[in-house]
Amino acid sequence: MADASTTKPLRIGLAGLGTVGIGVLRLLEENRTTIEARAGRALQVVTVNARDKTKDRGFDLSGMAWADDMVDLASRDDVDVVAELVGGSEGPALDLTRAALASGKGVVTANKAMIAHHGLELAKLGAANGAALKFEAAVAGGIPVVKGLREGASANRIERIYGILNGTCNFILSEMEKSGADFADVLKEAQEMGYAEADPSFDIGGIDAAHKLAILASIGFGAQIDFDAVATSGITEVRAADIAQAKALGFVIRLIGVADCDIGEAGTSRMLQRVRPCLVPKRHPLAHVTGPTNAVVAEGNFSGRLLFQGAGAGEGPTASAVVADIIDIARGDIGAPFSLPVDDLVHMAPADPGGRVGRDYIRFTVSDRPGVLAEITAAMRDAGVSIESLIQQGRESAGSEVLVAMVTHEGPERHVGKALELLDGSPSLTASPLVLPILRD
Ligand code: NDP
Ligand code: HSE
Repeated sequence: MADASTTKPLRIGLAGLGTVGIGVLRLLEENRTTIEARAGRALQVVTVNARDKTKDRGFDLSGMAWADDMVDLASRDDVDVVAELVGGSEGPALDLTRAALASGKGVVTANKAMIAHHGLELAKLGAANGAALKFEAAVAGGIPVVKGLREGASANRIERIYGILNGTCNFILSEMEKSGADFADVLKEAQEMGYAEADPSFDIGGIDAAHKLAILASIGFGAQIDFDAVATSGITEVRAADIAQAKALGFVIRLIGVADCDIGEAGTSRMLQRVRPCLVPKRHPLAHVTGPTNAVVAEGNFSGRLLFQGAGAGEGPTASAVVADIIDIARGDIGAPFSLPVDDLVHMAPADPGGRVGRDYIRFTVSDRPGVLAEITAAMRDAGVSIESLIQQGRESAGSEVLVAMVTHEGPERHVGKALELLDGSPSLTASPLVLPILRD
């Protein structure tokens, strides 16, 4: 290992002094001795930038220069590596990252939105200029899952990756389960605790999890990242009644991202990437993941099932992942951002979900009058869906709305779609049905 006292320091330009940026400064200060011993050289944050120069951030920035324009960090002679901790798929974060990679400076980022949208282009730019692009913190905060897949599991063929990828949603769903509290109150708590994105619709709409899933699928399958192909739905339609029904049936509800790789004839592999609230059997390890914790499962053909679990958000865990990437760069590790040289990543077209076989929970909201259940079950029969169980909640008053919750036997997904088409527009349904897949063990 190089001697930290004799090798040139790695000089860092850091953009973004919010939760993650300040966390990185604190970690570098508090664990300096350990970090520099592992990096083999000193790490110095020489320049910083954020929107507001006058804001008190509870950290002494006086030893660091202030860059008025964050993109200038890329062209400064006293900066070797840029830490982009601002966020946003477009705008100054992207401008800075492009400029830094183009000028041969490594970039460490926590920005999953930017990597999901522009990862391939940025990886090409880095490769062309010999610059590292690292984004461990972009997926599942403090859990070293990017490294785990790219390095630890690199000898395996991975055909399925899935998990709980959004701490805010997991916090909301598990709090609703525990306390019966309303969605809106729990979301507010998640925002106050710093888990939620600046725009929380990215969290509750499943988009943040989709960003992370697209990154994991690319690394795990050696595929060109394809965020647009992720079929995404969030948790806003999940009601307390669904959580209660799921519990009665032996499940919990979690927002799950699943990526499958169908290996076809040479060069014809396809990916199916989906983020949806799912019913998780209580015996499954993901059912026990509560609060803002994230967990990722990867199935390798030699390693078997790997489970990565830990804090998916927050200052300390996210800073831990950012600094680990900086240490790698300090050691001279450039690496392939998505596990394969960027020109070898293959384009995988989206797979057709219709033929997949699975079980579903379906919640209908119906007018409580004679014939309604017969209409629903007839549609199931005509579409070839076999019903495993069916629960109707007691009504509050004659003729009022009630919930009917159904669990199907295993069958092709397209059959459930066909049943819902048959029921579309039926006056018996007072709202669109909600379909939640049941995660297989
Ligand atoms: P914050 O909102 O806490 O901080 C963002 C920082 O960026 C602020 O310092 C802000 O400046 C600065 N900033 C925003 N826009 C501009 C701009 N146009 N020009 C200059 N500076 C700007 O965000 P986080 O720290 O939570 O997140 C940063 C990144 O890390 C994001 O990509 C996020 O997705 C990712 N991430 C966050 C996690 C977390 O737990 N928070 C976990 C994993 C990833 P100012 O303070 O002056 O307003
Ligand atoms: N908003 C994200 C979450 C932060 O809730 O998981 C970590 O990426």
